[in-house]
Amino acid sequence: MNILITGGAGFIGSHVVRLFVTKYPHYRIVNLDALTYAGNLENLSDVEHAPNYIFERGNILDAPFLQGLFEKYQFDGVIHLAAESHVDRSIANPMAFVETNVMGTVQLLNAARNAWKDNMKGKRYYHVSTDEVYGSLGEEGYFTEETRYDPRSPYSASKAASDHFVRAYWHTYQLPVVLSNCSNNYGPNHFPEKLIPLVINNIREGKPLPIYGDGKYTRDWLWVKDHASAIDVIFHNGRKGETYNIGGNNEWKNIDLVQQLCDIVDELLGRPQGSARQLITFVADRPGHDRRYAIDASKLRDELGWEPSIRFEEGFRQTVQWYLEHEEWLRHVITGAYQAYYAEQYRSEK
Ligand code: NAD
Ligand code: DAU
Repeated sequence: MNILITGGAGFIGSHVVRLFVTKYPHYRIVNLDALTYAGNLENLSDVEHAPNYIFERGNILDAPFLQGLFEKYQFDGVIHLAAESHVDRSIANPMAFVETNVMGTVQLLNAARNAWKDNMKGKRYYHVSTDEVYGSLGEEGYFTEETRYDPRSPYSASKAASDHFVRAYWHTYQLPVVLSNCSNNYGPNHFPEKLIPLVINNIREGKPLPIYGDGKYTRDWLWVKDHASAIDVIFHNGRKGETYNIGGNNEWKNIDLVQQLCDIVDELLGRPQGSARQLITFVADRPGHDRRYAIDASKLRDELGWEPSIRFEEGFRQTVQWYLEHEEWLRHVITGAYQAYYAEQYRSEK
């Protein structure tokens, strides 16, 4: 099989690329990535010379480029992860999200449709989406695949729009699509403007740990390699036109999660317990902040037999260890552009 993976230099994409390159040596994996601020080829340094791996730098908004790529590699499958993915950035600049997440997705759908329109047999188009399209939960309940869409940030609205286009291409053109909506991922190679790596990095640097609002916002955290394994299962065995929710069954309030992180980092750095917790600082809330996400992943479990492989305590500790052992990776990604973003996003906390 020739498989196109978009966004493979990003956080989740790099884990998906690694899994496919190593698990399927007989597949050719082409990673298409624009290398925005979030894309980093260092994430893939261990597989970059694999004989079945090719990197192509390009933008999913570039229709002629996409057409050329489909002609060159004759793809059998697409796994689409490329996106603008950070809610806070979407609040500051929604247009980039409309462009990449909505228009870019439609350009990619068009490229696949044009290349495959005479013979869709054996083809597969996988769209990777988020649980944020379902909106916000109260204290009770879970998102199922039937939950009504209710996106509330420019990011989730753009992902919701892209999901609708993917389903429209299935209904209208019979493009053989499959979709998944996943909860929050954690693990190695996470860009440090998202909560967990940001907190680990700030503890290292002795900087305040910004907690939005009352800190009681709840997320369902999944080990990123388990997301990659779910994508593998769904790509190969998911039913055409179907959607699968992916989650960790692992809810944490932000403040509890950050306190846990503080204690593990203190322990691993040999600092007195409690010192990192002193850095916790409550800051202004994120506008339109969704209160709680929680996924019901029983369809994926019952139909395709997927379940998370790792206990959170283990994955969380491994994650902290990874960041503490990869100072060079961290140093490279927190360059000038990161500092500028950070200064703007947290300017009232300086
Ligand atoms: P990320 O921001 O770490 O990576 C995104 C990648 O896409 C980067 O490598 C970037 O260079 C690339 N990219 C951005 N715009 C592009 C464009 N126009 N053309 C080509 N490449 C472009 O994102 P992530 O956290 O790895 O998320 C990957 C996907 O998974 C996204 O679609 C996101 O919505 C979804 N998702 C993320 C999470 C999560 O917790 N991070 C959870 C559920 C779903
Ligand atoms: O649910 C899936 C989504 O999870 C993905 O679709 C997104 O791509 C991904 O970025 C993530 O979105 P969140 O907004 O949940 O992730 P983030 O790490 O930005 O924030 C997690 C929680 O922590 C959220 O409630 C906001 C809060 N937070 C975040 C930051 C950056 C803080 O309290 N302080 C912070 O400085």
